[in-house]
Amino acid sequence: MIRKYVFGNPVTTGAVVRDLPPESGAVPFFALSRDGKKVILTLALQPDEVLFGLGESVRGINKRGFRYRSWNSDVFNHTESTESLYASHNLLVFFSASRLFGVYLDDPGLVTWDLGYTRADTAFITSENGDLDLYVLEDASLTDLARSFRRLTGRSYLPPRWAFGYIQSRWGYASEKDILAVVSEHRKRHIPLDAVCMDIDYMVDFRNFTWKPDAFPDLKGFSEKLKADHLRLVPIIDAGIPVAPGYPPYDTGKEAGLFCRKEDGSDFIAAVWPGRCVFPDFLREDARTWFGDLYRPLLDAGIEGFWNDMNEPALFYSDEGLAEAFSRVEELRGGQVEYEAMWWLKDAFNGIANNMEDYRRFYHRVGDAVLRHDRVHNLYGACMTRASAEGFRRYDPSRRFLLFSRSSFIGAHRDGGVWQGDNFSWWSHLKMALQMLPNLNLCGFLYSGCDLGGFGCNVTEDLLERFLQLGVFTPLMRNHSALHTRDQEIYRFPSWEIMRDTVTVRYALLPFLYSEFMKAALADGMYFRPLAFDYPEDQRAVRTEDQVMLGEGCMIAPVLEQNASGRYVYLPEDMLMIRFRSASDYDLIPLDKGDHRIDLALNEFPLFVKKNHPVLLCPGGESSETLDDRHFTVLCRMDRRVDFCLYRDDGLNPDPDPGRGLARIALDTSLLSSSPIPGVAISDVLL
Ligand code: GLC
Repeated sequence: MIRKYVFGNPVTTGAVVRDLPPESGAVPFFALSRDGKKVILTLALQPDEVLFGLGESVRGINKRGFRYRSWNSDVFNHTESTESLYASHNLLVFFSASRLFGVYLDDPGLVTWDLGYTRADTAFITSENGDLDLYVLEDASLTDLARSFRRLTGRSYLPPRWAFGYIQSRWGYASEKDILAVVSEHRKRHIPLDAVCMDIDYMVDFRNFTWKPDAFPDLKGFSEKLKADHLRLVPIIDAGIPVAPGYPPYDTGKEAGLFCRKEDGSDFIAAVWPGRCVFPDFLREDARTWFGDLYRPLLDAGIEGFWNDMNEPALFYSDEGLAEAFSRVEELRGGQVEYEAMWWLKDAFNGIANNMEDYRRFYHRVGDAVLRHDRVHNLYGACMTRASAEGFRRYDPSRRFLLFSRSSFIGAHRDGGVWQGDNFSWWSHLKMALQMLPNLNLCGFLYSGCDLGGFGCNVTEDLLERFLQLGVFTPLMRNHSALHTRDQEIYRFPSWEIMRDTVTVRYALLPFLYSEFMKAALADGMYFRPLAFDYPEDQRAVRTEDQVMLGEGCMIAPVLEQNASGRYVYLPEDMLMIRFRSASDYDLIPLDKGDHRIDLALNEFPLFVKKNHPVLLCPGGESSETLDDRHFTVLCRMDRRVDFCLYRDDGLNPDPDPGRGLARIALDTSLLSSSPIPGVAISDVLL
C-alpha cells in the first residue's frame, strides 16, 4: 500500500510515474512538526530497527546512526563523516520485528536524515523546503516494498549488453594514440576489454561536443576501426557550457535564453574545467531538447555511450565568490593576520567551490514558475541525464545507449546508470562501494559501479586486484583514475596476469550476470540486495554489512582488507562456494549454513550460490560481442530437479518483452551420479 501526502506547493520532479490521490489524514508512523517552512518528521526507532535506503551515501548498508544530507555535492575527498555525496536518493525503509514501511520524500531541495545521530533512539527527517510529496509505503516483505517503490517510480534503465564488458578509463588519455596504446596492451595480453572512456582531454579547451582535430583527425573512422575490434569509445560530457562567443553551443543556447539566470536576468556564470561557464536550465523541456541534440555529431561519429559529469552542478567559483575572496585578501593585505583572521582568509578560498551562496544566486524557469536553484538543487543532474537520454531516443529509438552520470536523483534511474563519483584508492572506499550497491538498487539504480582501483591517490597492486574482484560482479565494471596518480591500467603492474585472470571471470559470467540483471530490471526487482531481503528472520543476516545478495540465488563476499589471506563469511543457508582464480580455474566447495573462515589468496575470490540455483559459465572471450553464449558449463548444488531460465536478447532492444528471450534449462538429479563433488552437478549445456 502506498499513501501520498502533499505539503505546501511541491515542484513536479518527474520522479514518480503513478498519479496517486493525496490523503487527507495524519501521516502514519511519524509525528509531524514545523519550524518556519521546514517540515520535520519524527519517529521513535525500535531497538532492533534496521534502516535501508538513501542510495548513494556514506557508511553502512544499515543507515542507522548518522546524519545524512540530501544535497548533491562534488566531494572528491569524502570520508565516512561526509554527509552528502554526488547524488540524493530520498527513500528510507524501516525494518524491525514489529514493523516494515518505507518513506519517500519527493523533494528536490535539502533534506536532512538524522537517523539516530542526535538521539540514538530517534529519527528526524527534515525537509528544508517544506514543499514536498511524501509517500509512505507498506508491504508484507522488503522485496515487495522495493518492487512497489519501483512501480511508483518506473522501470530501471537498461544499458546495452556491451556495457557489461570491462571498461578502461583514465583522466589524461588525450589522443587516438593514447587510446590505441591502451587497446593494444589489453589485446596483446588478452585482457578482455569492451570500451575505453574519453575524459575531458579529448575536447578542445574542455568544450563539450568538440574534439581535438589533431588528436582525433577522423573520429568516425577511429570509432569504426575500434568497433571492428568490438570496442567502443565512451566520451565524457560536462554540465557547464563555456562562455565563448563563436562556440555554437554557447551561441545557440544564449540566443534561445536557455541558461540559468540570476535575479537581474543576466546569465549565472561560474568556473568549471573550461573556465567561466553558463549552465543549461535542464529543468526546462526546451533546454533539454536543445542539449540532447548537441550529442548528434558524436552519435554521427559512431559513439554509443557517454558519461555525464560535473552535474551537481559542481562550481569551482563564481565571479561573485572570487571577487569576495579577493576583497578579503585586500582587506588584510599589509596588516597583522591574527589567528581568527587567518582562518577567515583561508576560508575565503577554501569555501569558494560549491558554495551555498552561489547555489542561491541563480534561478530555473519551469513553465510559469521561477525557482531559485537551491529549492531544486538535487534535480539538476537528473534533468541532464534526462536531456541526454531523450536526445539518444530521438536520434535512434530502436536501440539502447550507454549512459551513466555522476549526479542523480530518483527518477534518473529510468534514463541512465550512475558511477559512485570520485573515490580514493583506499580500502575503506572499497568497502563503502560494496555497501552502497544494495541501497542504490533499492532506489532503482541497478546499473552502477565505482571507479575500480580508486580515482584519487595512488593504488597498490593488491588494492586494485581486490577492487577488480568486486567489479567482476558490478554491472558497470570500469577502472578509472585521476590525472597525476599512479598509472592504474592492469598491464602497468607486475602481477597483471592475476588481474587479467580476474577479468576473464567477468567474461565467463557475463551472459549469466546480464541475465540476472535483466530479469531484475524487467521485473522491477533488485540485482544487489541486503541479505535481509532474503533472510528477514535471521538476525545475523539482517545485520551483515560486508556481504551482498546478487541476482536470484547468489551472494558476494569480497575481501575488503589489505594483507588479508581470507575472511570470515556467514552463510544464512547451505550454499555452494565457487572460489575463482580465473574463468577456467576455480574450486567448487559445498558449505553448510553457518560461519566459515575462507582462505582467499590475493588471486582468489568467492561467489556463493544457494542450493538449486545454477551458475552458468560460458567459454569466455576478450569482448562481450565475441562471447559464445550458447555453450555453458552449469554449476549447481542441488537436491531436486532444477528449472532455470537464462534471459538472452540482442542487448540493444530498448523495450524487450520480459517473457521472450528466456532459454530454459532443466537439470535433473541424475546429473549428480557422475559428479566428482557430492551434491554438485557440473554439466555442459548447449542452448
Ligand atoms: C571529475 C570526474 C572524474 C573525471 C574528472 C575530469 O572529477 O568525477 O571522473 O575524471 O572530473 O573530467
